[in-house]
Amino acid sequence: MSEGEKMLRTVMGRLSRREVYHNMVTGQYMRIILRLMKREHLESQLMWHNLSPFDYHDIGKGFLDSDLLDSQGLYTKDQDLLMMAHVDYGSRLFQQIDGMEPDAHTFCRAAGQIVLYHHECYDGSGYPDGLSGKDIPLLARVCAVANVYTRLRENAGGLMYQRTIKESLDALKRSAGTFFDPDIVDVFVEGTTQALMEKQLVHQLDLIESNHFSF
Ligand SMILES: [Fe+2]
Ligand SMILES: [Fe+2]
Repeated sequence: MSEGEKMLRTVMGRLSRREVYHNMVTGQYMRIILRLMKREHLESQLMWHNLSPFDYHDIGKGFLDSDLLDSQGLYTKDQDLLMMAHVDYGSRLFQQIDGMEPDAHTFCRAAGQIVLYHHECYDGSGYPDGLSGKDIPLLARVCAVANVYTRLRENAGGLMYQRTIKESLDALKRSAGTFFDPDIVDVFVEGTTQALMEKQLVHQLDLIESNHFSF
């Protein structure tokens, strides 16, 4: 295993099991969205060895204090600022790996964009750079939708999430054009609703969620 892969494994290893699953499930929803957008070919062009840039959006949390991560989203203002730094930490990690691994540039660039910009908002109110609209890289816009959908659906110790599919899709729709790229929300909501009706994606959705949320 190369040094870069070891670094990724080490930092992911600092995350709780729940957070590792959160990264993986978000990656799965990114794949579903890209498939609905007919852009599924993108991922194969971005792989490095067998690693996908879709599976690391919150890896920067591996550099944060574990007490902060354990507070389950109920943060003070100061904690919020510390938490927001996860995008910078993650992005720097991929820059570092890019500098060490000559064949990892495309992977690191894609992963770095997802990590750095997945909390940007379509209306420019997000962080770290306040990018808006299509200035936010496509994969980061896709990740923003996949990330929040995953958070809404996952079971965070029974605390505040685990909405139904319909409730979660409705929540995305309410934030289309403010938080999220409305075109991506449209594609995801329409595709998922249709799939539920046609029972096409249902098996896949069930599989992802039963594998990852039942602990
Ligand atoms: Fe994040
Ligand atoms: Fe996340």
